Amino acid sequence: MRIGVLNGPNLNLLGQRQPVHYGTDTLADIEDLLTEKGDVRDLELLFFQSNDEGELVDWVQMKTEKVDGWLVNAAAFTHTSVALRDALAASDRPFVEVHLSNVYAREPFRHNSLLSDLAVGVIAGFKSSSYLFGLEALADYLEENSTE
Ligand code: DQA
Repeated sequence: MRIGVLNGPNLNLLGQRQPVHYGTDTLADIEDLLTEKGDVRDLELLFFQSNDEGELVDWVQMKTEKVDGWLVNAAAFTHTSVALRDALAASDRPFVEVHLSNVYAREPFRHNSLLSDLAVGVIAGFKSSSYLFGLEALADYLEENSTE
């Protein structure tokens, strides 16, 4: 199975960005951890990060036919982007929403997600481990719902 791992704005700064919320792992560290887990679960992972909403939408459209599901940290676009929501809905592929920080313990504007009601599930608050839990959950979901 192939999973698209989508990362939104400012996640390229992980490692130096507000470690109290986001931990000290860089995005490259997280991608390495996911790749290790992906090898164990026989998953091929495609990674993409952008600070640009349109580029994220374009990537979802471009990769839809190639992936079985998505692991999504849309970062700030989680709370604002109808366009990304629509792109994920149009892709008709299951996705798990992840956040490094516990968004529900932070400012009220972070409590609302434009993605969660479309997601298989949401994992938040475990720093880089949120991605690993999210990948496991998505892999389990895809295996359970596979038609092959
Ligand atoms: C985030 C939470 C968002 O509110 C924030 O804008 C981010 C990162 C997280 O992973 O905790 O950039 O998605």
